[in-house]
Amino acid sequence: MTAPAKNAGVDLRIDGRGGVDLGGGEEARRAFRDTLGHFATGVTCMTTLSPTGGPVGITVSSFNSLSLDPPLILWSIAKVAATFAGFQVGDRFAVNVLSSDQEHLANKFAQAGGDKFGGVDIYVGLNGVPLIAGCVAYFECTAEARYPGGDHDIIVGRVWRIFNIGKTPLLFHGGALRTFG
Ligand SMILES: Cc1cc2nc3c(=O)[nH]c(=O)nc-3n(C[C@H](O)[C@H](O)[C@H](O)COP(=O)(O)O)c2cc1C
Repeated sequence: MTAPAKNAGVDLRIDGRGGVDLGGGEEARRAFRDTLGHFATGVTCMTTLSPTGGPVGITVSSFNSLSLDPPLILWSIAKVAATFAGFQVGDRFAVNVLSSDQEHLANKFAQAGGDKFGGVDIYVGLNGVPLIAGCVAYFECTAEARYPGGDHDIIVGRVWRIFNIGKTPLLFHGGALRTFG
């Protein structure tokens, strides 16, 4: 792929700010991350079972809707994640949408490896997949497809059952967990 000419011949400024070329380098990488952080999201934990039947979970903000008919959702998982191999095509998994009082769980499931389920109340969902108690909503899925996406894989989930509890969600913005208000 060919990169566009730098500034495309125009020194563009928007509201007094210049653009950042993402050719490479640590500063550009940080700027990219910071700029992505302006897109406010909710926070989820993706849960599944390991081949040996142990619970697996990871905090994820890349969750999004994909299709209404058929009902599909998507999210992405970092290749370096310990749980990277845990969400294969055909596997059952659940999207647990965290509530505003579950910041501690967002942090707990964002720690690499280890036992993340100690002290966490769960329900047993479809095919034994753990559902974290106290969430805003749940989507019980099978991984329908998995696509490469740079240093992440994109996972597409087919949704089989949902729970809409109707609590207030936890938010993620500017690199920090937040609540409304
Ligand atoms: C708010 C928040 C959102 C995150 N979103 C993602 C994500 O979308 N995909 C991802 O792979 N990691 C995401 N992470 C990072 C993982 O939760 C973190 O790397 C975790 O340690 C991975 O656990 P594992 O190594 O046991 O798989 C996020 C972390 C936080 C705190």
